[in-house]
Amino acid sequence: LQSIRVKFTEVRNPGYDILLEPGFLVKSGGILQKRFPGHTPFIISSPAVYGLYGKTLQKSLKKAGFPEAKRYLLPDGEENKNLGHFCMATAGLSWFSGGQPAKPLVLLLGGGVVGDLGGFVAACFRRGAAMVQIPTTLLAMVDSSVGGKLGVDLHTQRGTVKNLVGAFYQPSLVLVDLSCLRSLPAREVRCGLAEAVKMAVLFDPGLFRRMEQGARDLLALKPALLSDVIRLCAAHKARLVQRDEFDRKGERALLNLGHTFGHGVESASRFRVRHGEAVAFGLACACDLSRLLGLSGPKAGLERVEALLGRLGLATRLSRISPVRVLDAMRQDKKFEGELKFVLPVTLGRSRLVTVRSLSKVQEVLASRLA
Ligand code: NAD
Ligand code: GLY
Repeated sequence: LQSIRVKFTEVRNPGYDILLEPGFLVKSGGILQKRFPGHTPFIISSPAVYGLYGKTLQKSLKKAGFPEAKRYLLPDGEENKNLGHFCMATAGLSWFSGGQPAKPLVLLLGGGVVGDLGGFVAACFRRGAAMVQIPTTLLAMVDSSVGGKLGVDLHTQRGTVKNLVGAFYQPSLVLVDLSCLRSLPAREVRCGLAEAVKMAVLFDPGLFRRMEQGARDLLALKPALLSDVIRLCAAHKARLVQRDEFDRKGERALLNLGHTFGHGVESASRFRVRHGEAVAFGLACACDLSRLLGLSGPKAGLERVEALLGRLGLATRLSRISPVRVLDAMRQDKKFEGELKFVLPVTLGRSRLVTVRSLSKVQEVLASRLA
């Protein structure tokens, strides 16, 4: 069993554990009963993931003495991370009002979409219900299940704005069962690896090197390197989140490396490009922009980023997406406040948050990568 503790300095939040072990799901009921006695579980998942793992989870809960968990199944796709499903999932939880068992325990079984929307439901229900993230995609294991950034996209007159409505609300526990990855489609494995490359570029040249050497093993889901990648990424994220829980000090903002370009491409492609794929594209763009602005020189080694993404099967050039629409979408982003901010790598292991006032270099990068 491997364990990472997320600690906060505020008394309000005692922190939580991220527990990593293959085969966890089978034991999850016992772990939850020990930590959340007197609670009644409610599962938020997707039809596909619940079909694969719902039975195992329910069986384990039952064995530990919990009643059968009621559930809300969110259809797959970023387009369903919306207020409509937020309302329906919350309505499902309202079973807990009016004399029913008082303490809900919301279990989020799935990828980042389930985690973001379901976590937001837990954050809002009675102003905060206990919530456990059980990530089943690699992306959710290395990134989204940790840190309590939750929310939904909003359809506005100007298009869909990602994560426009949301909250910071930490989980009470994160349970990572690596064996869930065996059923993950190859495309989703690559998406998770994109976020892992992001973490390595930001904080960990040693991990970056190991990913270069073991790219094939990672794609084949060989557990030795993969479990290290997940543990190290979760630990890097935990460290940043505990230093800057509410994203106000410019430290957590580093996690947006690749995301300004990435969110633009995700929205402009109407979510045909998946989040992880958009992050990979955004990483390559961030390296280009860093070079064009003179923040990184030829010795920075940033050409290795594009090479590693390529070895992991991630595209760094895209077609059939208009650079003009991407730039428009970047300006609609929730973080846009009249000027574009980018996290740009200076070298492997060090990045900076930079405000870019002249758009010409940004346009140059987009024009070359979206040709
Ligand atoms: P996802 O949640 O859409 O899941 C991808 C697909 O994988 C789905 O079709 C799902 O049914 C399937 N799936 C999940 N687990 C499976 C398994 N074990 N076996 C087989 N199929 C499985 O995608 P994602 O990449 O996990 O998450 C992307 C979302 O995460 C985006 O909305 C993004 O904005 C968000 N995100 C949030 C944070 C954060 O800090 N909150 C960080 C990064 C990304
Ligand atoms: N994914 C960015 C963050 O959690 O801050």
